[in-house]
Amino acid sequence: MKRYISRITNWPTPFPFRNLNFFMVDKERNFGSKPTKEPINNEEGNQISDMLIDGFGRKHTYLRLSLTERCNLRCQYCMPAEGVDLTPSPKLLTHNEILRLANLFVTSGVDKIRLTGGEPTVRKDIHDICSDLSSLKGLKTLAITTNGITLAKKLPMLKQCGITNLNISLDTLVPSKFEFMTRRKGHHKVIESINAAIDVGYNPVKVNCVVMRGFNDDEICDFVNLTVDKPINVRFIEFMPFDGNVWNVKKLIPYSEMLDTVAKKFPTLKRLCDHPTETAKNFQIDGHVGTVSFVTSMTKHFCAGCNRLRLLADGNLKVCLFGPSEVSLRDPLRSGAGDEELREIIGTAVKRKKASHAGMFDIAKTANRPMIHIGG
Ligand SMILES: C[S@@+](CC[C@H](N)C(=O)[O-])C[C@H]1O[C@@H](n2cnc3c(N)ncnc32)[C@H](O)[C@@H]1O
Ligand code: SF4
Repeated sequence: MKRYISRITNWPTPFPFRNLNFFMVDKERNFGSKPTKEPINNEEGNQISDMLIDGFGRKHTYLRLSLTERCNLRCQYCMPAEGVDLTPSPKLLTHNEILRLANLFVTSGVDKIRLTGGEPTVRKDIHDICSDLSSLKGLKTLAITTNGITLAKKLPMLKQCGITNLNISLDTLVPSKFEFMTRRKGHHKVIESINAAIDVGYNPVKVNCVVMRGFNDDEICDFVNLTVDKPINVRFIEFMPFDGNVWNVKKLIPYSEMLDTVAKKFPTLKRLCDHPTETAKNFQIDGHVGTVSFVTSMTKHFCAGCNRLRLLADGNLKVCLFGPSEVSLRDPLRSGAGDEELREIIGTAVKRKKASHAGMFDIAKTANRPMIHIGG
């Protein structure tokens, strides 16, 4: 493990190239022909209930489940400086309620669940929740997105409890910048978790990096260098607006610019073939063990292939990350609603899902929740 820590933390001076052109022409054509999208494989024969199909024919087979609104970090791009109002505990979904709803989704055709938050690992019953979710018949992927602060020590148990895929968030390789952005210490713990995840065999270990101008845009190529000899998929994420995160278009580094930065330094960068529901544009560099991806929600959205629904810690269902509309599943559940009634509520919300989000400037003006309540 030490071997990796020293390799990850001991970086040469950051690559100095900075391209300040905004919204450059998409350079994808320079990376080989644009891949044809694969036809939607109907999740290997799994029946998908009408409840999960929206008015545009999109099949929602991926549920993002927020386990908590709490977090052990205070990332500036996620959480307002003054903190967030926390839902009182009795109003949060219990373990059994999570299981009941998850089972309803999985028996209707969901085959992937991602645990998120807040920070999902702060939830005390996380191991039990993972064990129970992973035994749901029909669920193929149980993923988690975590900030990695306490992951290293929980990892063997989480793996044993059925976590199949891991995303660890890390926005900088410089400890002082980490403290500035997250308003907390702990950079070394995140590095330790990434190394531990590699050691226990996750492949790839996905590393989520929100790129912001003037903060970490000078580290893009350093992050790419992590993929030389490690099974890491570095995912550069465009900075998105949420309530209280002081989003500003000047801080957004568009996909085209990130791509240009990487391609200049790594000329063998090639686009990989992406699944139609893929949120990321994936790339490989000759000779690198890992891969590089871009999550381009702002400048090149992927709403047409969206297959995601979000169940928040308070039991609200959100059909679009950027749409303000939510419907409570907790309230009918607690009033004794049966599965059919719940299915109808979910189906109605899914059918109302819009074709695409409103665009970053409108999103920035629309009241939504802070990201920490939604979970990404
Ligand atoms: C809200 S966090 C929750 C899970 C966990 N606490 C973590 O940080 O990985 C999920 C993901 O959303 C990303 N995220 C948060 N705020 C964002 C923003 N304004 N724009 C883009 N990504 C954001 C985080 O970097 C993280 O990768
Ligand atoms: S991004 Fe994750 S770690 Fe950072 S404040 Fe939000 S929930 Fe916490």
